[in-house]
Amino acid sequence: MTIKNDLYLRAARGETTERTPVWLMRQAGRILPEYRALRARLSGFKELVETPELAAEVTIQPIDALDVDAAIIFSDILVVPDAMGLPYEMVEARGPLFPNVIKSAADVDKLRIADPEEHLGYVLEALRITKRALNGRVPLIGFAGAPWTILAYMVEGHGSKTFSKARGMLYREPALAHRLLEKITATTIAYLQAQVAAGAQVVQVFDSWAGILPPAHYAEFSTRYIAQICAALAPLVSVTVFAKGAWWAVEDFAALPCRTIGLDWNQDPAAVRRVAGDKTLQGNLDPCALYGTRDQVKAATLAMLRQFAGGPHIANLGHGVYPDTDPDNVRVFVDTVKEWRG
Ligand code: CP3
Repeated sequence: MTIKNDLYLRAARGETTERTPVWLMRQAGRILPEYRALRARLSGFKELVETPELAAEVTIQPIDALDVDAAIIFSDILVVPDAMGLPYEMVEARGPLFPNVIKSAADVDKLRIADPEEHLGYVLEALRITKRALNGRVPLIGFAGAPWTILAYMVEGHGSKTFSKARGMLYREPALAHRLLEKITATTIAYLQAQVAAGAQVVQVFDSWAGILPPAHYAEFSTRYIAQICAALAPLVSVTVFAKGAWWAVEDFAALPCRTIGLDWNQDPAAVRRVAGDKTLQGNLDPCALYGTRDQVKAATLAMLRQFAGGPHIANLGHGVYPDTDPDNVRVFVDTVKEWRG
């Protein structure tokens, strides 16, 4: 199938494109009234994630509403622990909660290395449906959490400012942490390979809790496993690594076979360019810039675009779009990128 709009794919391969492609992390979700309407009819978030036809519908909503250059499959990083035997709940207005958490070697032993078709078949089916429905309009992005971020939720049981239980495990029981990370990594590699077989044309690894680790721990407990994922996936598709808060890890990422490095808004694109070689950079507008007036959104977007000059760029925010953002301002962001000719 030929892709009608392949700007994102070409930029993700390191090519310089006639204009900068643009999409948003969390573009499928609560910013869109059509998402909230569909979601309100269901028992909860999990029903949406686990019903392939609905997940596909929600994946395509921002392509219609925002006219972005890529679709990201509607799912969650927490489907991986779920598939390994540690189920999550999504508590309304509070976020994820794991009724059981990983505390001991016995808990790690009980986890399975998930079989993608058997335990994550609903995501693969959503990808297949989405791919057919998109009919080549824009490329389809698959994703998974980085093993460290998944461990953080499995050990902590919920979101946290400190993730002190998870970080504590790295000091108290490093060998156990590595065993858990190995199991998560094996599951994640098989899962991402299956996503590619089901239609994902690029994969992104989200390390949302990268920034809470000291750099040495990050190298040992996160980059090492991200490297294994990149090595397994890079022969199949372009891989994007987005590690929030881990500005000091860019040099290590530059040596990995990933093609694109995602930046959060704390990072200086020009400084990253200097150490990231010929990688494509993705990001990095502060999501709060979208709270401004139309003119302010436009000015902030142009300032961001100029900072990425000098190499391939995929425009995005520096993290997921906040749910209370006005979709009209998201359109201003998208349109400003599309009109810009650096
Ligand atoms: O559009 C897209 O980006 C695709 C969908 C997507 C979701 N989650 C849907 C979602 C993606 C890529 C994710 C990844 C994800 N999930 C991450 C990594 C990216 C990041 O934001 O750092 C993380 C850490 C999670 C875990 C998670 N899921 C949390 C902490 C929460 C609650 C916070 C919140 O925003 O409410 C979720 C729930 C979630 N995942 C929602 C959506 C649209 C909101 C749930 C709802 O509709 O009620």
